[in-house]
Amino acid sequence: MSKSIKLAILGLGTVGTGVVNLINDNLAELKRRSGREIIITEVGTRRQRDDIDPSIIQNDDLMAIAASDNVDIVIEVIGGTTLAKDIIMHAIKNGKHVVTANKALLAEHGNEIFALAEAHDVHVAYEAAVAGGIPIIKVMREALAANKIDWLAGIINGTGNFIMTEMRDKGRPFEDVLVEAQELGYAEADPTFDVEGIDAAHKLALLASIAFGIPLQFDKVYCEGITGITLQDVNYAEELGYRIKHLGFAVRRNSEDGQQGSAGIELRVHPTLIPQDALLANVNGVKNAVLVNSHPLGQTLYCGDGAGAGATASAVMADVMDLVRVLGTNDHSQRSHHVPHLAFMPEQLSDTPILRAEQMTTGYYLRVHAYDNPGVLADITRILSDAGINIDAILQKPAHKLGQVPVIILTLPVVESQMNLAIAKIEKLAAVTDKVVRIRLDELAQ
Ligand code: HSE
Repeated sequence: MSKSIKLAILGLGTVGTGVVNLINDNLAELKRRSGREIIITEVGTRRQRDDIDPSIIQNDDLMAIAASDNVDIVIEVIGGTTLAKDIIMHAIKNGKHVVTANKALLAEHGNEIFALAEAHDVHVAYEAAVAGGIPIIKVMREALAANKIDWLAGIINGTGNFIMTEMRDKGRPFEDVLVEAQELGYAEADPTFDVEGIDAAHKLALLASIAFGIPLQFDKVYCEGITGITLQDVNYAEELGYRIKHLGFAVRRNSEDGQQGSAGIELRVHPTLIPQDALLANVNGVKNAVLVNSHPLGQTLYCGDGAGAGATASAVMADVMDLVRVLGTNDHSQRSHHVPHLAFMPEQLSDTPILRAEQMTTGYYLRVHAYDNPGVLADITRILSDAGINIDAILQKPAHKLGQVPVIILTLPVVESQMNLAIAKIEKLAAVTDKVVRIRLDELAQ
């Protein structure tokens, strides 16, 4: 048998502990699949743990572990973008392959990290960074390598999907469900990353780069979370045959495809109305799902647990197994044995522009509150029609507080700048009492 592969696990939180458990549980399986003995030689942890095998060195000096001769592959699961970055850069400079679940770090500094890895002929693998246990990085970089990807849409934050599902199905309050998601190990250390859409935006930036061969551009992802979603809107959407899901979209808009908007790429994360019978509308709880539309394959859907110890450890160890096979050859340079980090050759990355929010095209759900006066509905619909906005459905509820009526309008796709102008005019109508509530609606994700 060839020499053993030595792993260091940096961080023993939910994911790090999940990796240790997975290796213990499936040791024989891992050896049979790789033909190599896989051993954990060092773990990086701030406090000594007595549940760790005594043969494993526990060390709080993570930089030392990243350079240790006793380590072939460094698994970074501490999270964050400062110390984790220093450690990964140090490991790369010391010729270590790195496996990380750190989507925030890669979304924000991946261009620099991948360039350094290429220069040092090592690989930074990151299956666990996107959609938990779903092997979406491998699918998009390898299985779909012959396709041109037009768009992808996905539920890519397990915590957010868990919260939305529990609220809708059980009417549970937002805060209670969030606490449960934290207890189950789904939520980020700072859960605002989950509920404000930032975690999903990190993952979308990674997926979009792989889909379109563009550099990582997290700062250009339009990002809206779920904190403003009310049960009232969830119920009106259901009444109209739609469901509100928190989705990430990466869409290539071509000038020749008949769209109203500009050519470029839309990167957006936001609550979205989708038809109740759409596949993504029925992905519930902590499940993630990514729907990819590619040519010539067509639509394919990838679904599974998007967060939690077991799901994330599965993805971490899939990367380790890939690297173990590379390390088993005489030539383990990443260029010869690996698809490029972002699926396209680094010198072939494209400068296709990312569209600004005002240039993006989606349908809309509008909730307008107005006094129940004759002609109000006509005024609202005239403003929309003057702006060239096509109404798809209207729902007017009977008057409730102080003679006001909620009017719900669904529109066909429109460029956001036009919708902004129309909403500003609607809000100026004397009979309209509140700010217009708007939620995007998308028919892509059928
Ligand atoms: N907080 C993340 C989620 C964990 O809920 O999806 C997995 O990335």
